[in-house]
Amino acid sequence: MSDVGTVLVTGATGTVGSTLVSLLAARGVAVRALSRRGLPPEAMAKGIDAAKVDLRDAQSMGDALGGVQRLFLATPLEEDMAAVADRVVEQARRAGVAQVVRLSAFGAGGGASTGLAAIHAQTEESLRRSGIPWVFLRPNAFMQNTIGQFAGSIRRYGSFRAPQGSGRVSVIDARDIAAVAACLLTQSPPVSGCFDLTGPQALSNDDMAAVLARVLGRDIRYFDTEPGETRATLLAQGLSVWLTDIVMELYDLSAHGGAARVSSDVAQVLGRAPTSFEAFVADHADAFR
Ligand SMILES: NC(=O)c1ccc[n+]([C@@H]2O[C@H](COP(=O)([O-])OP(=O)(O)OC[C@H]3O[C@@H](n4cnc5c(N)ncnc54)[C@H](OP(=O)(O)O)[C@@H]3O)[C@@H](O)[C@H]2O)c1
Repeated sequence: MSDVGTVLVTGATGTVGSTLVSLLAARGVAVRALSRRGLPPEAMAKGIDAAKVDLRDAQSMGDALGGVQRLFLATPLEEDMAAVADRVVEQARRAGVAQVVRLSAFGAGGGASTGLAAIHAQTEESLRRSGIPWVFLRPNAFMQNTIGQFAGSIRRYGSFRAPQGSGRVSVIDARDIAAVAACLLTQSPPVSGCFDLTGPQALSNDDMAAVLARVLGRDIRYFDTEPGETRATLLAQGLSVWLTDIVMELYDLSAHGGAARVSSDVAQVLGRAPTSFEAFVADHADAFR
């Protein structure tokens, strides 16, 4: 077993957390993997203790933090996210946690240009005030979003739609975020710092369509849409008004080049280049076929 003590991973079945749990277990770290529904049996491995806990349940969260040295804090994208995170930070402080690695968001550090960045900035501020050594991971949009948002349309029509014009985004593979988190959670003594996490280049949706076409070996097109049309579609799909506003704001930011900056932080932490979109699509080709 590693000497960093027990690491509590919240969002343990999520896009970042699920990979992080595996990476930490592979390093011999004692992992407490927290989510409401628990880990699927195939994800269980030596050193992993699955905790079925709701982040909003103060009593159960207090129990889950018992004996924990490090915390990876990911909170679901819901309207009360800042309040939920603030409560967990306070509980972590009382439990004597030695480091919190916070899954924040791109832009949370610099004047918070979107509502989502502002919410994450609020939690960053709570962590700064807590006195716990902190790490802020500020990733740009995940490449994995393309599976959730576009893969169905790509499979059916060979095309996808968004109101993003030719705006480019330095999308990141969430597996790289997990790798950075695993690295920073296992350094002794615990480190603090901010890390802007992006992929190796900024891509427009036309660029992505060209990569998808090349890797999948079929014609794939991107069609620009009116924001109003996308907004109506998201609401019709059952997204809350709050989440729809967040998503539309991110599309607007992307369309106007506000998410195109490329950072070298992934390479600095991992000692290798971040995963390209081409490699990501190759690894997930079945999802798009
Ligand atoms: N997607 C992006 O492009 C992007 C970019 C930058 C930052 N982020 C940030 O990433 C965070 C989300 O991370 P993710 O995408 O890895 O997660 P995710 O895939 O959305 O998964 C959410 C995780 O949280 C758990 N969960 C949800 N509600 C819970 C609750 N009440 N109590 C305990 N666990 C709960 C879920 O498991 P159960 O359902 O079983 O509880 C699951 O493990 C958000 O804060 C978002 O702002 C996302």
